[in-house]
Amino acid sequence: MSSQSTRHDAVMAALRNVNDPELHRDIVTLNMVRDLQVEDGVASFTIVLTTPACPLKDVFIRDCREALIGKVEGIKDVQIKWDSRVPTDKRLHGRLDTNMRSIIAVSSGKGGVGKSTVSVNLAIALAQSGARVGLLDADILGPNIPMMVGLGFGQPRLTPDRKLIPFEAFGVQVMSMGFLTEPGKPLVWRGPMLHGVIRQFFNDVAWDQVDYLIVDLPPGTGDAQLSLAQSVPLTGAIIVTQPQDVAIEDAAKGLGMFEELNVPILGIIENMSGEFFGEGGGERLAAERDVPFLGRIPMEARVRVGGDSGRPVIVESPDSPAGAAFRSLAGTVASRISVMMLSEADAVPLNVIE
Ligand SMILES: Nc1ncnc2c1ncn2[C@@H]1O[C@H](COP(=O)(O)OP(=O)(O)OP(=O)(O)O)[C@@H](O)[C@H]1O
Ligand SMILES: [Mg+2]
Repeated sequence: MSSQSTRHDAVMAALRNVNDPELHRDIVTLNMVRDLQVEDGVASFTIVLTTPACPLKDVFIRDCREALIGKVEGIKDVQIKWDSRVPTDKRLHGRLDTNMRSIIAVSSGKGGVGKSTVSVNLAIALAQSGARVGLLDADILGPNIPMMVGLGFGQPRLTPDRKLIPFEAFGVQVMSMGFLTEPGKPLVWRGPMLHGVIRQFFNDVAWDQVDYLIVDLPPGTGDAQLSLAQSVPLTGAIIVTQPQDVAIEDAAKGLGMFEELNVPILGIIENMSGEFFGEGGGERLAAERDVPFLGRIPMEARVRVGGDSGRPVIVESPDSPAGAAFRSLAGTVASRISVMMLSEADAVPLNVIE
């Protein structure tokens, strides 16, 4: 028994040499190692990640094996199970009566660059990784999300306390004005009314345990962006841009607006990269403004077909170049959110992961 616990301690001590590559602290200090057992020379334990979409599992496996096999007496093999707890944006505590851990705005300066497409595929890719995801269509006057995820016009059901229950598509909770207004009938609304609806989307919708709420915004730097930022603390904003210069100029404006509103910038996504619009503009803008470049999505007909048919490319062709790009994007975005929430703490956050 005592030799058992000595071995246990020795393994834990050795795992202090394994760092989370993004949080830059060791996985024992971060309280990521759980349920360690040592039997017949095999160390088995669970690593609790800060996101199920973590793209670094292979790095953890390699580093843990390196730290243990041949380094701790008697350890011949390592078996790792995975679990995850997405951290909660501290500013959300007490601000909402929903269980939301983070809220991410998807915006741009310019229309038609692919915000809704990115929002949909990103949300589904995160859900596919095992995260609990909500998708809020904040384009009140031109809601495209229902069509893009294959849902039509239809009154959501109500909870006993009269909150709207989101619809579900591809494992994502979805709410949109498109469910509530008749198709083809334009809404003509003023700013204050838009503001009211955006607030209601948070207060009067029965969101169920959301790790990531992805908010698809209308184009521009107007009322919707302002209302959203004033209604809830945003964990961060993603700016979507096309690669060409005119688009970049507008994206820079969109970026500037969020900076002015003190919303952290998660980074820039370049969409529709390829022969037609070129490539590299998004990355250049990110470098110029000193914000992360999150990735590029190629221009592909199947992305558009996915949007029109209600079966997004991440569902219909997950292994196509665009599908793979969205999956990798989801990992990058999720990691970036974890890093933002955990490493900005001033002191060493012991037990940061509940
Ligand atoms: N990577 C891509 N490859 C090919 N087509 C794309 C790609 N991304 C988006 N599209 C298509 O471009 C059109 C505009 O995309 P989307 O509606 O997502 O843009 P948006 O920025 O949300 O537009 P709006 O400003 O009107 O809200 C859609 O038909 C969509 O299917
Ligand atoms: Mg849109």
